[in-house]
Amino acid sequence: MIRGAILERSGLEIYLDNNATTQVHPKACAAMLNVMGEGYGNPSSAHRAGEKTRRALFVARSNVAELFGCLSENVVFGSGATELNNWILNGLCNNPDAHLITTTVEHPSILRAAAQIEQKGGKVTYLPVDSNGLINLEDLEDSISSRTALVSVQWINGETGVIQDVKSIASICASAKVKLHCDSAQAFGKININISEVRVDFLTCSAHKLHGPTGVGAAYCRQFSGLRPLIAGGSQEFGLRAGTENIPGIVGFGVSAQLRREDFTNINKQVQELRDRFESAILTNIPAARVNGTSGYRSHNTSNICFEGIDGQALIAILDRLGLRCSQSSACSSQIPEPSHVLIAMGLSERDAYSSVRFSMSQLNTQKEIDAAVELVTKRVMKLRETKVGINA
Ligand SMILES: Cc1ncc(COP(=O)(O)O)c(C=O)c1O
Repeated sequence: MIRGAILERSGLEIYLDNNATTQVHPKACAAMLNVMGEGYGNPSSAHRAGEKTRRALFVARSNVAELFGCLSENVVFGSGATELNNWILNGLCNNPDAHLITTTVEHPSILRAAAQIEQKGGKVTYLPVDSNGLINLEDLEDSISSRTALVSVQWINGETGVIQDVKSIASICASAKVKLHCDSAQAFGKININISEVRVDFLTCSAHKLHGPTGVGAAYCRQFSGLRPLIAGGSQEFGLRAGTENIPGIVGFGVSAQLRREDFTNINKQVQELRDRFESAILTNIPAARVNGTSGYRSHNTSNICFEGIDGQALIAILDRLGLRCSQSSACSSQIPEPSHVLIAMGLSERDAYSSVRFSMSQLNTQKEIDAAVELVTKRVMKLRETKVGINA
């Protein structure tokens, strides 16, 4: 049995950083190896070797499309959410008069792209969030003007798991005839994204958030109008991203999407049970610990917890040494010694932001791991408080 004390000595690993990236599913891995061995034809070649790879590309695109709830011809593959977020924002806000509306809690790939749009003379409105991490829909309505070229709101926040009310956001944008992009890196495969029910114009995601490989992702585009090619060259990806496709990555992505779709409800229920088990035990065991983000609108796999007084980075380092992997903010910002911009936007003090740690679960975690993680976290938080080492003064 993996209990906390045994884990400390065993060298085993409990991976609770699945919002940063996930372990590649063995079936996705096998499919990638297979296509690397046998799928050597260029998918743009007319011969049979090319045809075989073209078929693999087609199957992967269909699997990703099904999880988006859209048609394959609306799916463009790229290197991941960062690249595709930049592409959509730059494409739609290309003219110096363009107005972009986004939020203060976006991933750096949106915030940095928005800053570049501002540098080129464009206008950007950053919608604030409340203490639950949600934007105010009236703020959105009031911000839309005749200049607004795009609204870009993340579906699920990677740090807190907070889920925005995309259905209402989409209906506001549709009535104002403004295009809507949702960064769905943390939502794809976790919630039911059905494009026929929610009028979103663009969605972006990364394979590695759902047990696919890193370096590959996809965009759903309702229409391609307004988008310029991300990379100019051949006619790959409908002429929007030239260059011979990353076939092994795309095939692995397709398999991970297919596996999620086939067992969507069970996987997500099982992960929610693990997260709830972890969260309720931690809140029971540790005084002055509280969850960041509203409980009603939060992804079922994420627990961002403020351990009052503790230095979160010290706790993460100690847990890492003991075999438990977790983190403080998005992996793209975690090297920056600043408090999380997401938690600050939600009104946390710098001190509480520094005291917060994110645990994110996946289908590959087990109940035993969760119980061992609870024991380790409880023991280490109490010890840090007792010894006053790693205290956030
Ligand atoms: C909400 C969100 N958007 C975008 C990204 C970027 O994904 P990638 O690094 O795969 O490009 C992430 C990754 O953490 C994310 O959580």
